[in-house]
Amino acid sequence: MTPVVPDFDHYPIVHLPTALQITADALVVTWDDGAESTFPLLWLREYSLDPVTFNHQTREQNLAVIDLPNNVSLSAASIAADGMIQVTFESEGLTSSYHPGWLRTHCPQNPTPQYTLPDRVLWSAKDGSVPPRFDGRNIADNAVFEGWLGAMRAYGVGLIEQLPVAPGTLETVIDRIGPIRATNFGRLYDVENKADTNSNAYTAQPLRAHTDLATREYQPGIQFFFCMANEVRQGASILSDGFAIAERIRQDHPEQYAFLTDHPVMFVNKDKDSEYRYEVPIFETDYRGNLTTVRFTYWLRAPMTGDITTIKRFHEATSLLHHYADHTDFQIRFRLAPGDLVGFDNRRVFHGRDGFDPSEGARWFRGCYLEREEIESRLRVLDRNKRLAGV
Ligand SMILES: [Fe+2]
Repeated sequence: MTPVVPDFDHYPIVHLPTALQITADALVVTWDDGAESTFPLLWLREYSLDPVTFNHQTREQNLAVIDLPNNVSLSAASIAADGMIQVTFESEGLTSSYHPGWLRTHCPQNPTPQYTLPDRVLWSAKDGSVPPRFDGRNIADNAVFEGWLGAMRAYGVGLIEQLPVAPGTLETVIDRIGPIRATNFGRLYDVENKADTNSNAYTAQPLRAHTDLATREYQPGIQFFFCMANEVRQGASILSDGFAIAERIRQDHPEQYAFLTDHPVMFVNKDKDSEYRYEVPIFETDYRGNLTTVRFTYWLRAPMTGDITTIKRFHEATSLLHHYADHTDFQIRFRLAPGDLVGFDNRRVFHGRDGFDPSEGARWFRGCYLEREEIESRLRVLDRNKRLAGV
């Protein structure tokens, strides 16, 4: 069957077209709420659902822009009884139909996505709702699962309690989101006090606030700790919101913020079988200037290079970052119980722990990473499935 839209989504028809106007380079659609959308003709031609332009099975385009006619014009345009818009491309004699829900959603001047990810909410120690907690006994329920994923997107952290305490539990839950990101520590790793270790994480010593694997070009997005055992009195888990801390530094210490945003730092791991290196500012921003990543595995920095002023500025800026990341105004402290699974955004949230006495018993967290975009993709698909089901 020919698809009516060029993807796998469902577009409820909220507004119907009431009038069409063909211009030299566009089709202007007037909607029943009085809104107008202008669709450039080459744009419309790109999304023709004919089987030459568009693969009906993959729902991907077969043709690139360069494969389309140079001068696109319309010889006819009409509105069918069901609201579908039909146009005929003059030079090819090709007639194509467009779904009104899809067209309105993708209006080039005013797109209205059917789903947007939860907004990020910055938090500090005062926010008693962090980490948001979810009942592991109900995690099979998509609404609970979606709530947990949404919390990891909005707050950068979400905690499921009372999952079955078994070695396979972590993978079973993560498989519902997407593929695990393997690293030089493997697909899964066990954080516990170990002899002859290759990481400070595998000792009983306290760890200041940090992110993991700053050495990697694409620093892993989400980190999960599933508590298999926690018999020690200390060793509390500690989190602080790196984006909230960056915002505080931006407002109160603009010179240090500029250094952390603009000046690259080389991170390098130290291991017998690997040597990852990546040089980048500690605060990464996107093309809009918005913060996307904080990167601060403080024990994996290569010796700083530069003149004495640069190195002095580096020490001032990173001391300030440590000051806030380890400050009680920003940190939340909690104890994981067996069956608890916490997920946090390793490109946003700093984590650390109190030291503990390993002679008191086991402290065993099974961990893994997953990219941030896997959470985002799963949230979109869960929402799409609700639309498809008409919920
Ligand atoms: Fe860590």
